[in-house]
Amino acid sequence: MLKNVKPVRVVMLFEQINQGVWARAYLIVDETTKSAVLVDPVIDFIERDSAMLVERGLTLVCVMNTHTHADHVSAAIHLARKFGCPYLMHESTGVSCADLLVEDRQEISFSGLDFTFHLSPGHTSDAMCIEIGDFLLTGDFLFNGEGGVGRDDLPSGSIDDHWNSLQVLDRFDPEILICPGHDPPGLPESTLGENRTSNPVLQCSTRADYELWQRNEWEKLGEVSRLEYSLPANLTCQLPDPGYYR
Ligand SMILES: [Fe+2]
Repeated sequence: MLKNVKPVRVVMLFEQINQGVWARAYLIVDETTKSAVLVDPVIDFIERDSAMLVERGLTLVCVMNTHTHADHVSAAIHLARKFGCPYLMHESTGVSCADLLVEDRQEISFSGLDFTFHLSPGHTSDAMCIEIGDFLLTGDFLFNGEGGVGRDDLPSGSIDDHWNSLQVLDRFDPEILICPGHDPPGLPESTLGENRTSNPVLQCSTRADYELWQRNEWEKLGEVSRLEYSLPANLTCQLPDPGYYR
């Protein structure tokens, strides 16, 4: 019989690793076991991220993508293959090599790191938020403050779905920190409660308001320059010629 068993305290490190660029990626580490999860890693930084894992003595236990990216090539499958761990996405994804598929509200634990997944389609049909502790990784479903949300005019995007998905945010405490897939470099994360007052999309009271916001955004953003090679590369899990992304 075991006596005086103290609960193991999980100390979690949470870090946004793509400082100074628009595409954000996150490293989450259980400091007790040195198990690590990467979310939305970008191919441009695959060598840096690989070296970081080795230098810090971390074991990569899973790579996750919040959605099928259209504006950059993902490093997810290439890191997963390199370090021998699963590549996790929502079960609705068209990404052929994602080998750990989750459904809405599913919970998965990786050696002390307890994740919950929340389907939130609209920017893409396979978009989901990833909840870990006090952090909500929203991908392009929700940005911070003035950024609003990701555009809905790319392949598999839907204004109606995105508008309806905003209800998913009612599942969370206002203190949860919004950690998006894009934001201006240096912009600090803010809470869901802060976004309720500062984010223009969360100020929209009707679907028509939201559609107007989206259409203005499309005009401002224009074409996605990397779409024609990044989307096929991400769907088929092939690396395009490095000249395309360096
Ligand atoms: Fe995106």
